[in-house]
Amino acid sequence: MSTEVFPHCIVTQSLDTEISSLAESLGLECVDEQVPLPDCGFVLRWGEDGLALQQLGKKAPNPVKVDFARGAVDHRRKFGGGSGQMIAKAVGVKMSRPLKVLDATAGLGKDAFVLASLGCQLQLHERNPVVYALLADGLQRALRCQDVGLVDVVGRMQLLACDSLSVQVPEADVVYLDPMFPERSKSASVKKDMAIFHSIVGGDEDADGLLQQALGAAKYRVVVKRPKKAPFLNQQAPSYQLTGKTSRYDIYVNAKLPG
Ligand SMILES: C[S@@+](CC[C@H](N)C(=O)[O-])C[C@H]1O[C@@H](n2cnc3c(N)ncnc32)[C@H](O)[C@@H]1O
Repeated sequence: MSTEVFPHCIVTQSLDTEISSLAESLGLECVDEQVPLPDCGFVLRWGEDGLALQQLGKKAPNPVKVDFARGAVDHRRKFGGGSGQMIAKAVGVKMSRPLKVLDATAGLGKDAFVLASLGCQLQLHERNPVVYALLADGLQRALRCQDVGLVDVVGRMQLLACDSLSVQVPEADVVYLDPMFPERSKSASVKKDMAIFHSIVGGDEDADGLLQQALGAAKYRVVVKRPKKAPFLNQQAPSYQLTGKTSRYDIYVNAKLPG
């Protein structure tokens, strides 16, 4: 059963063509900052620093937005462990041999950004229209920034609004999958901002179907990110696993990576 919800409207001070066409594509109304909002549910906010998804109500967490130029993702790009990071080992990244990776469950693009910052060429698929809009906005802002290194990284990320299960997926060296894992209980240690994301996306209950398709498209391997104790995707055991503190990577090998 799908549990996702949709924002009420787009709150904005300035109505420009960019936001009007986004509102039209999402079927949402644009409303002025001054208009009173309901005290529960979600809105999208559009301002000078981009698009954000905000929960309404008294104890609402911080809004969710994509910003590759600040915070944890930026810090990781500059000071992270490079190709020693677990995701890089799982994918088989080598700086001397750039890989073509299809991220078939893009989300907010954090994992794809790590791989692109390590030289991989990324194609990203996202089917949820709100998540797609947040990620597209984050990529656009990064492309317009002054940081040449960042522009170079996001220049390797090509985003498509589509459901990976209903398109002919392009051939890639590696297919990366990180579908939403259905929340097990309210007490699960889901961070507050991630809880917003869960509400919008739902549980990706059809995720099992992604594995077979990915195995058909991946030249070398399919990498599936899972919570540490989650069952295998499609109940299919991987060739091997890399396990971290809270999550693990299941690696399904189609062929040995060159080099
Ligand atoms: C857990 S999030 C991915 C997080 C991402 N790895 C990151 O680093 O930000 C899963 C995302 O995959 C998307 N998704 C799930 N199944 C999909 C499909 N068949 N096609 C495209 N997107 C899909 C969901 O809408 C959701 O945004």
